[in-house]
Amino acid sequence: MSYPLNPDPKQNEAPVIRVNNVCFNWSSEAKVLKDCSLEVPQGEFWMLLGNNGSGKSTLLRLLAGLLIPDAGSIVMPYKTGFVFQNPDHQLVMPTVGADIAFGLVNENLSPVQVKNRVRSALDAVNLADFERRPIHALSGGQKQRIAIAGAIARNCEVIMFDEPTALLDPDTQLELVAQVQNLVKKRNLTALWVTHRLEELDYCDGAFLLEGGKVVAKGNPQSLKQKLLAAEKS
Ligand SMILES: Nc1ncnc2c1ncn2[C@@H]1O[C@H](COP(=O)(O)OP(=O)(O)O)[C@@H](O)[C@H]1O
Ligand SMILES: [Mg+2]
Repeated sequence: MSYPLNPDPKQNEAPVIRVNNVCFNWSSEAKVLKDCSLEVPQGEFWMLLGNNGSGKSTLLRLLAGLLIPDAGSIVMPYKTGFVFQNPDHQLVMPTVGADIAFGLVNENLSPVQVKNRVRSALDAVNLADFERRPIHALSGGQKQRIAIAGAIARNCEVIMFDEPTALLDPDTQLELVAQVQNLVKKRNLTALWVTHRLEELDYCDGAFLLEGGKVVAKGNPQSLKQKLLAAEKS
């Protein structure tokens, strides 16, 4: 029998998402991120919390490469998918199958390969029979699962979510977060999920709090939840 040198494999893993001392200003008056740093380990599901206007979406746009930091660096070596608050801004084709296939146009796949990718991605989000459904006939939660299937079809190893449950009712909200937790573990993905709903913290491995342009707390999601609940009451 052999034993691993390091019993905690996580300690051997480099972080998959790394933000080092990032500064970003929309204008000289509006400094949004000031020396912001965070790391998400491989195979984990982390959440990013912070008040409205604290810079969460700005940070995600920096991670997406849509904005360039004024200072600091971002390391994101893996293929990354994004899921936004409003799926109607993200799903562009008339049917589910066509929308997921649309995300694969740059990959030079044969029609059979595209079909297989679409089917297995739909399977992953438990919407196996939805290929021919029109997008407009889906519920909000189903639309978000199609957006996730799009990232899975592209073989993304990392998925970022910007308040994906903001437009969902409470039951659908918790179903979606539980499903993402499951997907991360089953497929060994890494995910960063922006939210301001404290109940979602029950599903993640760790959490960050963004305040005053930097991460002021990180780690155990339950401690962060207690701290934020106490702050709400006071
Ligand atoms: N496109 C933009 N142009 C100028 N300022 C912006 C833009 N987007 C966001 N901001 C400002 O940046 C700050 C952070 O916004 P945002 O990242 O959207 O916060 P959050 O997602 O945490 O609510 C806010 O003060 C907001 O007004
Ligand atoms: Mg936002």
